[in-house]
Amino acid sequence: MMKTYAFAVVGALGNVGTEMRGILEKSDLPIEKLVLMDVAGNAGKKVSWRDQEHTVVESKPEAFSGLDIAIMSAGAEASLQLSPEAVKRGCVVIDNSSAFRMAPEHPLVVPEVNADALADHQGIIANPNCSTIQMLVALKPIHDKFRVKRVVVSTYQAVSGSGQGGVDELLKQTLACTKGEKMQSSVYPHQIAFNVLPHIDTFQENGYSGEEMKMINETAKILDPNIRITSTTVRVPVATGHSESLNIETEKPFEVDQIKKLMAESPGIVLEDEPDKNIYPLAVKTAGKDAVYVGRIRRDFSTENAINMWCVSDNLRKGAALNTVQIARELINRDLVRVE
Ligand SMILES: NC(=O)c1ccc[n+]([C@@H]2O[C@H](COP(=O)([O-])OP(=O)(O)OC[C@H]3O[C@@H](n4cnc5c(N)ncnc54)[C@H](OP(=O)(O)O)[C@@H]3O)[C@@H](O)[C@H]2O)c1
Repeated sequence: MMKTYAFAVVGALGNVGTEMRGILEKSDLPIEKLVLMDVAGNAGKKVSWRDQEHTVVESKPEAFSGLDIAIMSAGAEASLQLSPEAVKRGCVVIDNSSAFRMAPEHPLVVPEVNADALADHQGIIANPNCSTIQMLVALKPIHDKFRVKRVVVSTYQAVSGSGQGGVDELLKQTLACTKGEKMQSSVYPHQIAFNVLPHIDTFQENGYSGEEMKMINETAKILDPNIRITSTTVRVPVATGHSESLNIETEKPFEVDQIKKLMAESPGIVLEDEPDKNIYPLAVKTAGKDAVYVGRIRRDFSTENAINMWCVSDNLRKGAALNTVQIARELINRDLVRVE
């Protein structure tokens, strides 16, 4: 008989948690039961899942007993507290927060890129940052064939990356502006409506933001530490869908058409590249979709063996919920749902 698994989604009522429930609802994973956990204040709330009413429970350590896979989407602080408790109770954790990403003992996984890293897991698997995930899905096939030497990435990130609070702030400010009222900022240090903020996460001593350093450090851990990469991350007034401008330099020479063909044939990628027909990836069109969309692929004439590319993906799906569900699928397929 086919093995079935007891799943939990922690932070089940949040932005990513909601997306997660939706993806699990439609997935064909062998889910025996689903436990929804969130903060005490949300315990008792009713949520419908697969036509059945589920009651949200408080995310206490004991709640993980008897569960096989917990998908954590409740922030780093909650994850640091709860994940070891879940593992102690025999439950494998896939964590969406930044809490465990750079710890050498915990695999950091994008299934299209480094699923083999799951083999040595010790109970906790980290899901990378949303901006890193979509970039690495696009870079992996190019790296395999032409060896990526250097990447310059600039991001245009949606407000849903800051949780539901970011989306609410953009909507409120937009409404206030149309009524000529004063805009209030609480999630962001400045107005986000009709504005662009070169500031995601806190600034570090080296002048980079936390988000920029995540893209740099996570690329080294997941793909290749020899790739030289620099990053500028920017928040834009878009609800969902992160866009990225990638400048990629390779060791080996290529034809631009070879890169386009490679993108079209690679798993998880959709090529949308007919600029003469106004066809290129757009955040509003990728929202709700699974793939990483690439387009505007063109040679960088300023140096040897380099291209520019536009890369867009739904930050709540491939950037978070979908990637974790794909990790769960790999764990199940590889019979790795166990804590040693
Ligand atoms: N949004 C993205 O694009 C994205 C992408 C990748 C990764 N992530 C990561 O995913 C996590 C969740 O992000 P989000 O956008 O879904 O945030 P969110 O909308 O604020 O949702 C977080 C949910 O977790 C709940 N929560 C907080 N502390 C908890 C605890 N100790 N136990 C159980 N539930 C708790 C929150 O309750 P309250 O609302 O009452 O606090 C809320 O329901 C974060 O770590 C984030 O960095 C987000």
